[in-house]
Amino acid sequence: MPIIYHEKEKIFQLNTAGSTYVIQIYDNGFLANLYYGAPIPDVNLTDFARRKVHASFCAILPDSTEESFSPDTAPLEIGCSGRADMRPSSLQIRNKDGNAATDMRYVSHRIFAGKPDLPGLPHLYSEEAGDCETLEITTADPYTGVKCLLLYTVFEKHAALTRSAVIENDSENAVEIERAHSFCLDLNRSDFDLISLYGRHMQEREFERVPIRHGYQGVASRRGSSSHSQNPFIALIDHTGGEDFGDAYGFNLVYSSNFRAEVDVDFNNSARVLMGINPDDFGWTLQPGESFYTPEAVLVFSNEGLGGMSRTFHRLYNHNLVRGEWKHKKRPLLVNNWEGTGMDFDGDKLYAIAKWAAETGIEMFVMDDGWFGKRDDDTSSLGDWVVNEKKLKGTLGDLVRRIKALGLKFGIWYEPEMISPDSDLYRAHPDWAIHVPGRVGSEGRQQYVIDMTRADVRDYLFDIMSGVLGSNDIDYLKWDFNRNITEPGSALLPPEKQKEFYHRYVLGTYELMDRLTKAFPHLLVEGCSGGGGRYDPGILYFSPQIWCSDNTDAISRANIQFGSSLCYPASVQGSHVSASKRTGYETKRNLAMWGSFGYELDPANISEEAREEIKTQIADYHRHYDLIHYGDLYRLICPWDDPYRCAWEFTDEAKTKVHVTVFIKLAQERRNFFLRLKGLDPDKKYRLEETGEIYSGALLMNAGLSLWRMPEGDAVSKVYYFEAVED
Ligand code: GLA
Repeated sequence: MPIIYHEKEKIFQLNTAGSTYVIQIYDNGFLANLYYGAPIPDVNLTDFARRKVHASFCAILPDSTEESFSPDTAPLEIGCSGRADMRPSSLQIRNKDGNAATDMRYVSHRIFAGKPDLPGLPHLYSEEAGDCETLEITTADPYTGVKCLLLYTVFEKHAALTRSAVIENDSENAVEIERAHSFCLDLNRSDFDLISLYGRHMQEREFERVPIRHGYQGVASRRGSSSHSQNPFIALIDHTGGEDFGDAYGFNLVYSSNFRAEVDVDFNNSARVLMGINPDDFGWTLQPGESFYTPEAVLVFSNEGLGGMSRTFHRLYNHNLVRGEWKHKKRPLLVNNWEGTGMDFDGDKLYAIAKWAAETGIEMFVMDDGWFGKRDDDTSSLGDWVVNEKKLKGTLGDLVRRIKALGLKFGIWYEPEMISPDSDLYRAHPDWAIHVPGRVGSEGRQQYVIDMTRADVRDYLFDIMSGVLGSNDIDYLKWDFNRNITEPGSALLPPEKQKEFYHRYVLGTYELMDRLTKAFPHLLVEGCSGGGGRYDPGILYFSPQIWCSDNTDAISRANIQFGSSLCYPASVQGSHVSASKRTGYETKRNLAMWGSFGYELDPANISEEAREEIKTQIADYHRHYDLIHYGDLYRLICPWDDPYRCAWEFTDEAKTKVHVTVFIKLAQERRNFFLRLKGLDPDKKYRLEETGEIYSGALLMNAGLSLWRMPEGDAVSKVYYFEAVED
């Protein structure tokens, strides 16, 4: 049973295959977290909630019958502002009297099969009956009458649960939500390191690990997107834990806008973890009768270190997050013209790339930026989504037909959320650009962001995009977002609602994504934001893959892909071979194979040898597609542990196929080394395809694979592929 309620002890036990989460209702209605970690069968944990109260500096509430109870020290499932819990709070609601003292107590609960939708927000879902169960706990503030519903969905097969909150205003007065995190988790320990993924454009999701300390620490975005700077993901791992061992907790927010992930360690060495909408420049007025849904957070626990945690995220996202026709359908191998031509193309040049692609075995041609308005560089035309027929030397329909006649699918680039100051759209509707009155707007890449909070803007975009998509038999859409939001403000929101802007913006984006993906269910959508600036589970709900980075250099990509793999599966990672200079084509292929593979070049600019090499790569891609997209990933040598080389492995569930890639970034004087594989069946025999040699799983995992056949030099790589054989 994933969720058990022990009536006598008033304890909820949330069980998965790899974790137990225990909540208790105190007599005074506070909700305590007694435990979250590796599975435990019993719940005799009441003492865990008892914490020494430290004199009058930890305030107590007189209504508590609990011995030693102070909201300041108790491990709580909601941390409320202004009522004796002095740690960072997960909920702050300003009431009609103007104060923000918030106090939520248990009222009731219900347990039901499946998972509810979160209106307007992306979320995980039940893939098949019985794969998840939900606990909904209703709490209410006895003074204001405002309710807060805590939602816990338990994915039993995976060691994962989701959490979110719904705030309902059942009172007679409007209230202001000032802080509404998706969850609050008070762990009864703090001997952890904190892992986060920082970065910038061209260098996304770099791994960073630091010991947590007493006090406040965390990561956040204030950029109007989940951002290149910090991914909405953090993990806590034992100080001594690593890739294969130790308790690891992963937290990921299903949200594509300003977020905050906080860890606060108190004097009891208890770590409070909070994650949700960034309270900076956020507020929400809730009228009587209205509800507010927080985004959803995903919590994963593994006592097999970061590797176990990542594999759980991967399986969960492949099954219970990514949706639609392309969830498990083989994605077409594509060529995109961006890195090859930039915006300097015409219909003939595109056709020539497509012709080469068809002859080479590539399955789809994607026309990137520059096909609309008068756009030949990035100074104009965003918003004028009208085909530039002069440039294409005909209609879009003509080009699509010519390219499809080659046997290819056709994809197109859009950046719907942007508007160029030099565009007919901006000249007609300057107030459609996000701006604040009286201030000159900041430009980013010479463009403004369009106001997605407005229904008229979304209708315009839906109509103009569906016109192009609907009349041209288009198979794929790359949805880009190439700047951050500044001067956050909407011409339509009244002053008191401007603080709702960022959240309304992302809800507007989600609404348009939802409408378009429903109107065009066959369309394969790839998310993008200057590469991987919006690489988050919110976007994955609408697009089964995201362009990982504008940096296609294999050496840089290794770090980016390793970092991304902390919680995102290979299937969602758009990764292409380009004409980048620092490695040969074999290594570019070996890196790009770890993801949704493709090419990003103009064949006219690469050597005959490179073109021949590419032909040989394609068969391998098809052959290993399922193993890499949906197999189990083992990080064998991580770039954060070894600056010179890295290695990774995919195995299938039955442990009969093993795909290992070794990448030497910088050679160290002809050193021999042995690579210990992971996750194999020790009793199985495995045949190395290249040599026909047979090794036991035990040997490969314990003695390792001798890498004496690795090519010499810097930036070289090699794939070792094994299949299990009968004795
Ligand atoms: C962004 C994307 C690129 C490309 C350009 C086009 O940078 O990440 O792949 O589409 O925009 O302007």
